[in-house]
Parts: sequence; C-alpha cells; structure tokens
Amino acid sequence: MNTAQPPSIDEGRSRLRQFRARDCPDRLFRYPTCHPSHPTGFCPCDETGFRAAWFYIKATLLNLVLALPFNGLSVWSLRKMGATIGRNVYISAGAWIDPMFPDLLTIEDDVLLGVGARIAFHEFRATEFIAGRVTLGKGSLIGGFSLIGPGVRVGEGATIAGGAVVARDVPPSSIAGGNPARVVSS
Ligand SMILES: CC(C)(COP(=O)(O)OP(=O)(O)OC[C@H]1O[C@@H](n2cnc3c(N)ncnc32)[C@H](O)[C@@H]1OP(=O)(O)O)[C@@H](O)C(=O)NCCC(=O)NCCS
Repeated sequence: MNTAQPPSIDEGRSRLRQFRARDCPDRLFRYPTCHPSHPTGFCPCDETGFRAAWFYIKATLLNLVLALPFNGLSVWSLRKMGATIGRNVYISAGAWIDPMFPDLLTIEDDVLLGVGARIAFHEFRATEFIAGRVTLGKGSLIGGFSLIGPGVRVGEGATIAGGAVVARDVPPSSIAGGNPARVVSS
C-alpha cells in the first residue's frame, strides 16, 4: 500500500516565495507535484479569479511589448517586472520572456538577445515543478529562435547559435549550438 502523503501545495508555494527572494542563493527550485494536467498550485490558472486575471493581463502586455521594435520599452517593462538588466542590452523584436517569473532574469551589460529568442523560468514535469534563475553573462549573444531553459547561466562573451536549445550552463567565450546545446567551439 502506498502511504506517501501527497505534496502540500501551500508548503510548495511558500518555498517558491522564499526561492524568489532576491537574496536567495539557489539557482533552481524543484517541488514534487501531481501530474500537471491537474491543478499543481504553481500555475497562475490555479489562482483565484482576480489574481489569475491580473497575471494574464501582465503576461499579455509583456508579450505585446516584446513583439514591438522598441528596445527601451522592453528593457523598462522587464525592469518594472523585477528583472535585473544591465547597460547597453538589446532585446530584438519578437523575443519571448517567460511572464511567470521575470524577476528570476539577470541580463548583464552588452548583451544581444536575437530575434525570436526565448527564455523560460519554469517547467512542469510529470511529477515535479521546476523554476530557475537565468543569467546572460556580460557581452553574450543569444542567437535567433534559441531557447534558454530555467537555471541556465550563459557565460561572459559566449554565443548561443541560432535555434539552440540550452539546458545546461555555457562556458564563457564559447559557442554553443544544437538541441540539446553543446559547445561547438571554445
Ligand atoms: C553559431 C554561429 C555563431 C557560428 O558561426 P560561424 O563560426 O561562422 O559558423 P561555422 O559555419 O564556421 O560553424 C562553426 C561550428 O558551429 C556549428 N554551427 C553553426 N551554426 C550552428 C547552429 N545554428 N546550431 C548548431 N551548430 C551550429 C557548425 O556546424 C560548426 O561545427 P563543426 O566545426 O563541428 O563543423 C552562427 O551560426 C550563429 O548561429 N550565429 C547566431 C546569429 C544570430 O542569431 N544573431 C542574432 C540575430 S537577431
């Protein structure tokens, strides 16, 4: 007989709040859940009406802003949503930045995010929920239509090839590409 207790949603949310605190040193948050076809407690759609509506309004506005060719507005909006963004950062029109936890994003100085590049801070798996900080190191270049996953750090001066799917850290000054992304030149 399986006597395991189902994971407590309240406990999970409380730990997620602690993880999202600015001074938390952890890069990844993992918490056991039921299958995500059922409410896990981590999706904005599990919130009560007003809170869910507020999330979807903010998410839609962020998507709209990122679709437009106004870099200053994109950077300003992301900072307002809690992201840390350095100087001389260029976010190309059509980038997608996960609206769930933009506060987990750090972009250092002199970074270019290519057209259609995507950054995710969360992942639902069959039995767990994952959230992770993403850092794009100083001078890195994130190729068009690539995907950077939760918890990844792209090293200083690294290049991510177009279309790459990056699930692990990328060393400084290297070039990484493919799915899953591997270093193709260092
Ligand atoms: C990755 C990249 C920088 C390589 O440029 P390059 O050095 O001139 O390319 P090369 O053709 O000499 O290829 C170097 C290696 O990278 C590999 N490579 C190139 N593009 C790749 C890609 N998109 N995905 C995976 N591997 C790639 C090549 O197969 C080659 O590997 P090999 O040495 O084992 O044969 C370039 O292809 C790229 O994707 N740049 C991103 C540009 C971009 O999206 N800018 C933002 C636009 S808004």
